[in-house]
Amino acid sequence: MRTEKVEIFDTTLRDGEQVPGCKLNTEQKKKIAARLDELGVDVIEAGFPVSSPGDFQSVTEISKLVKNASVCGLTRAVKNDIKVAADALKFARKPRIHTGIGTSDSHIKYKFKSSRPEIIERAGEAVAYAKSFVDDVEFYAEDAGRTENEFLAEVCTEAVKNGATVLNIPDTTGYCLPEEYGKKIKYLKEHVAGIENVIISCHCHNDLGLATANAIAGITNGARQIECTINGIGERAGNTALEEVVMILRQHPYLDLNTAINPQLLYDTSNMVSREMGMFVQPNKAIVGANAFAHSSGIHQDGVIKNRETYEIINPADVGVTESAIVLTARSGRAALAYKAKKMGYDLTKIELDHVYLEFLSFADAKKQVADTDIHTIMDIFRKNSRAIA
Ligand code: KIV
Ligand code: ZN
Repeated sequence: MRTEKVEIFDTTLRDGEQVPGCKLNTEQKKKIAARLDELGVDVIEAGFPVSSPGDFQSVTEISKLVKNASVCGLTRAVKNDIKVAADALKFARKPRIHTGIGTSDSHIKYKFKSSRPEIIERAGEAVAYAKSFVDDVEFYAEDAGRTENEFLAEVCTEAVKNGATVLNIPDTTGYCLPEEYGKKIKYLKEHVAGIENVIISCHCHNDLGLATANAIAGITNGARQIECTINGIGERAGNTALEEVVMILRQHPYLDLNTAINPQLLYDTSNMVSREMGMFVQPNKAIVGANAFAHSSGIHQDGVIKNRETYEIINPADVGVTESAIVLTARSGRAALAYKAKKMGYDLTKIELDHVYLEFLSFADAKKQVADTDIHTIMDIFRKNSRAIA
């Protein structure tokens, strides 16, 4: 049994749904929320209630159906946003309001045309107001990744003083390097008064392909919540992928951290979200891509056929994938061909395999991938040739 738990905050239905063309209706959102609850996420960010009547309705309906997870609604540090979110969350068994404000110099100057003292004041007021509706209030310091640590600690201290239960430190623009993001979390742990009573959350974007690495750096430096989405979808280049962080923590026992996620539902959940959003998953996507457990080069295939662990660090069955795939291409060797042929009912002697392999290579050179139907054709040709010779 591992000592500490990392909370999984899923934002597929909020940050994930911000992907252009991926808008979901309330029924689709309910279906995904029910699955996320079954998957074992700790928090479901169901939407941004003030943004549209549709989002308000979705948050309300999701609040009614979710049994285990906390249901969260996003707001700006604006009273009306907070009031509307509280209203949308009124049926939730465990409601959470997620409120916050931009803290980087760029946000303060260009977005708010404001000043640091005013931002601190607005942050504190927003948290205190949210707290008048619910106990569980998460504060986000938008663009924390580019916010000077000293000022960030001041804003966070104000949020904690006013009752924040979770401090979200978003790398909104995906700018930080893992070491830098990790140091930021460590700095906050050492400089925010009252931090020992709150959970620090990592919300990382993938603009430089570092969202997962940054979230893990945050966790190894003391954060205990990760905000993520199924398939890593989200604004621009996306968010930290849920399936990646869950499997990283699972595959590295020395970190001594666990999550409540049932990994066997990961592949199916990925397919469900991809289907509902009409957003295809890249084949080389870690954990859930079509090629994540597929082997095509002869050297790798030979190893995997002898023992899966030679080229796989995860048992595909652990994430709900039926089995490793041996993909036959012109780079495949005799071992892979014999293995595949045997699975299809053709038990070949060594001499037969040598002949079939020559036929296979001429097929493979003409095609990107040799399909099961091609194997039947190759075997027919081989049999006809054998009869002709006999
Ligand atoms: O990326 C971000 O900063 C966000 C916040 C609204 C939490 O999504
Ligand atoms: Zn975000």
